[in-house]
Amino acid sequence: MEELRMGGLVNFYSDTVADILEEFRPQVVSFHFGLPEKALLARVKAWGATVLSTATTLEEALWLEANGVDGIIAQGLEAGGHRGMFLSQELGLQVSTYSLLQQILARVSLPVIATGGISDAKDVSAALSLGAAAVQVGTAYLLCDETNTSTLHRQAIKSNRSHKTVITNLFSGKPARGIVNRVIQELGPISELAPEFPHAATAITAIRQAAEAQGSSDFSPLWCGQNTIGCKEISAAELTLELARGVEV
Ligand SMILES: Cc1cc2nc3c(=O)[nH]c(=O)nc-3n(C[C@H](O)[C@H](O)[C@H](O)COP(=O)(O)O)c2cc1C
Repeated sequence: MEELRMGGLVNFYSDTVADILEEFRPQVVSFHFGLPEKALLARVKAWGATVLSTATTLEEALWLEANGVDGIIAQGLEAGGHRGMFLSQELGLQVSTYSLLQQILARVSLPVIATGGISDAKDVSAALSLGAAAVQVGTAYLLCDETNTSTLHRQAIKSNRSHKTVITNLFSGKPARGIVNRVIQELGPISELAPEFPHAATAITAIRQAAEAQGSSDFSPLWCGQNTIGCKEISAAELTLELARGVEV
């Protein structure tokens, strides 16, 4: 909650969460999977918050612009964690970061934040050179001191299999990128057996917990993007300064 007082980033979807957040008046509210219904969005905007949401295709960016966001997060295919896709569930139409960024910049006049595979200062420079207003970085922070990345998750990121990531629906019901493990290999990354979002997470919990208790990440979601080159076991502040200091535009 201290982060919220300081105007940190939050993700949320419902009036219940808005009730809790209202007193903190976060300066930036970032949605994933599209936008909430109009009344809730209007409520958030009435706080004076800058509203962001994720686009994974040009169509989603145009839809977000038409529906009142202040900035668009262009999430490329490389990104770790859940894909923000909401207009189409066709994975084959998902686009890599720099292509998506350029497609959106050509058609949208809002600030665009590039995300997906941005791992070091050279990547930041490339995104800014192409016209991004800012970048958003996830995977590179996963080994930072402040994160709650589990020991098993850290081991997988530091292992020689961290370059093998896929988009899978097995752990939540929605497509998300993580490191390949046993359950992905045995069921296939995208399975019709996975219950709808978010119920797949509940469905896999028992076996996941049993495996984790034995030191195995065979059934755990190991969220991670394609580019782990920038993952460092340093503080998030140091990493942020490294990313910023090396920028050349
Ligand atoms: C472990 C992990 C958790 C994430 N959780 C969220 C989330 O809760 N909300 C969100 O909007 N994006 C989330 N993301 C996606 C990031 O916002 C961003 O799109 C992605 O990390 C960028 O690609 P990168 O991982 O290659 O840096 C998550 C990413 C990771 C790796």
